[in-house]
Amino acid sequence: MSSIEHPGEPLGNSLRGRLAAVVGRAQNTRTPTQTVIARAQGVHLWTADGRRLTDFTSGVLVANLGHAHARFEERYRHYCGSLPRTSYNATTPIEVEAAERLVASLNMPNAQKLFWAASGSEGVQKAMWAALHRQPDRPIIVATRGGFHGKKGLAADVSGESSTNPNVRFISFPLYEEKTPEFYRSELDALAAEFPNRIALLITEPYLGAKGSFHPPAWYHQLLQAWCKKHDVAFILDEVQSCHGRTGSMYAFQTYGIQPDLVVLGKGLANGEPAAAVVGRADLIDALDYGEASDTFSGNPHACAAICATLDVFDEQHIVAHCQTIAPVLRKKLLALKDTFPFVTHVRGEGLVYGVEIADADTANRCVLEAYRGTGKEGVHFLGPLAAKVLRVSPPLVITEKELDEAFAVLESAWRRV
Ligand SMILES: Cc1ncc(COP(=O)(O)O)c(C=O)c1O
Repeated sequence: MSSIEHPGEPLGNSLRGRLAAVVGRAQNTRTPTQTVIARAQGVHLWTADGRRLTDFTSGVLVANLGHAHARFEERYRHYCGSLPRTSYNATTPIEVEAAERLVASLNMPNAQKLFWAASGSEGVQKAMWAALHRQPDRPIIVATRGGFHGKKGLAADVSGESSTNPNVRFISFPLYEEKTPEFYRSELDALAAEFPNRIALLITEPYLGAKGSFHPPAWYHQLLQAWCKKHDVAFILDEVQSCHGRTGSMYAFQTYGIQPDLVVLGKGLANGEPAAAVVGRADLIDALDYGEASDTFSGNPHACAAICATLDVFDEQHIVAHCQTIAPVLRKKLLALKDTFPFVTHVRGEGLVYGVEIADADTANRCVLEAYRGTGKEGVHFLGPLAAKVLRVSPPLVITEKELDEAFAVLESAWRRV
């Protein structure tokens, strides 16, 4: 993507141009406005030219506590102290603390052990390796169609609608119209009949985010889990995006009433520091042998410090309870957008993660641009439309009602120009 220019943004325009000259375009999935953020505080971002935007992305779901959260930064500094810059040549007390606390935070019998990863897709890959290694005579992988698990390795193989990996089979996920439980069960039973004792794992997400926010009924996940149990298939839940409060529970598996065998965590796990993890059954985690899940940055001390600091703030400031309180406010405001603007066709979501579906891709892009322009000094920051025309609304979990009021006032006035 070449750099774009916005009127009245000399600094932003210059930075966008300089970036395009030195960073490969493949790096880029930035919002089409190519916003340049110079600083941030709480739910607000300031562009290089000094405009204030409300962050409706949480930095793409990494900053659940918002930006520069005072208590998080304080706890993070406290843990960092004089931590070594080590990787896998040694362990540190902070790694032990982070591992014990993280496993305990899932509060379910299957959460017994973990391994670390440096990104969500690496976590997905390690979880899948573990399941494949536990039962080496079972090469078949089942995934829910339309998911997104990452761009690398096995994570890419199970993303989207089709796979170049000959061992991957997709099953349906409820989209606009959910079918009966029998429909989904018979798809699974057909696979079990086609590949008797050959299926190692089933991987899914609590809700399909990248596909445009499709949130299934709880019975869907419960049905997948029961089928996995019956056929001794490892049930892997990708909570890279949903972990730490997003759906109104600390973990989405609690919202959906299930107990996966492995849960993959990432994004908000360390409030924006790069960290990911796979937590689950010890027999699965230990199916990988000495060193097989190791790499340079996984579980590094600073990532572990950020994980501990994040857990501290969640405990001390009752972040999940706040999310539950503010969620109906957000929902009401989003549904009101649908009444006001005929181009808003669907609003789907839960907790503090929603998809606002727009009539078509061009209008969706206009909505992002006009939200950015906002009222001049103030705007609202979205990610570019998902699945071409769905705007994800996922503000930091700490957002207040007043901040939502202000952001929606800006949005409503901006979208009148669409
Ligand atoms: C549900 C889900 N899984 C996996 C990933 C991949 O994570 P990463 O980009 O850290 O590799 C993402 C990233 O958007 C995601 O949303």
